[in-house]
Amino acid sequence: MSVLITGGAGYIGAHVVRLLRDRGDDVVVVDDLSGGDATRLGDTPLVEFDLVAVDAVDRLREVVERHAVTSIIHFAARKQVGESVAHPEWYFRDNIGSLANVVEASAAAGVTRLVYSSSAAVYGLPGGAAVTEDDATVPINPYGESKLVGEWLVRDAANAHGLRSVSLRYFNVAGAGWNDLGDPNVQNLVTIAIDRTARGLAPVVFGDSFDTPDGTGVRDYVHVMDLAEAHLAALDALATAEGPADAVVYNVGTGRGASVREVLAGLAAASGTDLEPIIDPPRPGDPPSVVADASRIAAELGWRSTRTLDDMVDSAWRAHEWRARTSA
Ligand code: WQD
Repeated sequence: MSVLITGGAGYIGAHVVRLLRDRGDDVVVVDDLSGGDATRLGDTPLVEFDLVAVDAVDRLREVVERHAVTSIIHFAARKQVGESVAHPEWYFRDNIGSLANVVEASAAAGVTRLVYSSSAAVYGLPGGAAVTEDDATVPINPYGESKLVGEWLVRDAANAHGLRSVSLRYFNVAGAGWNDLGDPNVQNLVTIAIDRTARGLAPVVFGDSFDTPDGTGVRDYVHVMDLAEAHLAALDALATAEGPADAVVYNVGTGRGASVREVLAGLAAASGTDLEPIIDPPRPGDPPSVVADASRIAAELGWRSTRTLDDMVDSAWRAHEWRARTSA
């Protein structure tokens, strides 16, 4: 299999690149390195350009032809909720524009297999029960809107071009499969809490009066290695005649919720530092609980998460410590 991976120099993409290379697949990465790190890629071919540049379709076609690409995984996107609220035009231009160019290049070059990086953010404020793929998609920020429109685009491309696609709705990703692939972006609970703990600062809890078992927010944390393996399951399904014939959507989560306090307790155990958290008011619009029903991907692709919350927090902490040691 020869796979083109956009955004492959990013946190999640680099895990998928390494798993594919380790099993012997050919990989070529397209990344503008605006958020990615080329050192994650080793000797994997990297072609650096902006996926919304005016010549992006032609350049993608060149890469497909030169590397005899049979499948594409599209990770490249902006993914900061707060930034999307401040600059929605960036998210519609870049997240949808880059995907549109990938779809156009795929159609022109005859590539019919695409795995698309979507998000649980498409659900917006789901009710308290586990979220299924058939639940309402009412995103509450431009980031989630851009991910949902991307799902519509790949669905329409199935009708227009015969594009077979799997959209993966990520829940809360954390952890590291290798120390050098840890998430350096201090933008989500685990990485923010690790950063603060490493600096001797107490972690901050955004609200402890939610209608949840311990009052703090509950999310479905999924190990980045489990998530990466879900991409390989999707690629392998698309490579078979029995695989998806058009556009399918899967939640990628564990089906188990964990509260902020549970995550912080895991970090205290991993780091050996237990600082009493600061309790701040809840963030506007923060849902009390978002947990996946991941039964469809299990039934149809045979994928299930296997790693625990402690695996995620321990590996994330070790990767942070490794980065601190090696960059000192
Ligand atoms: C998790 C929980 C916060 C920081 C993400 C993004 C996006 C998406 C998954 C892929 C919440 C609480 C956080 C802190 C805290 N993934 N928190 N203190 O809000 O679920 O959103 O969903 O697209 O990454 O949309 O993730 O990590 O910001 O928050 O108490 O310092 O941790 O209130 O309950 P969230 P998050």
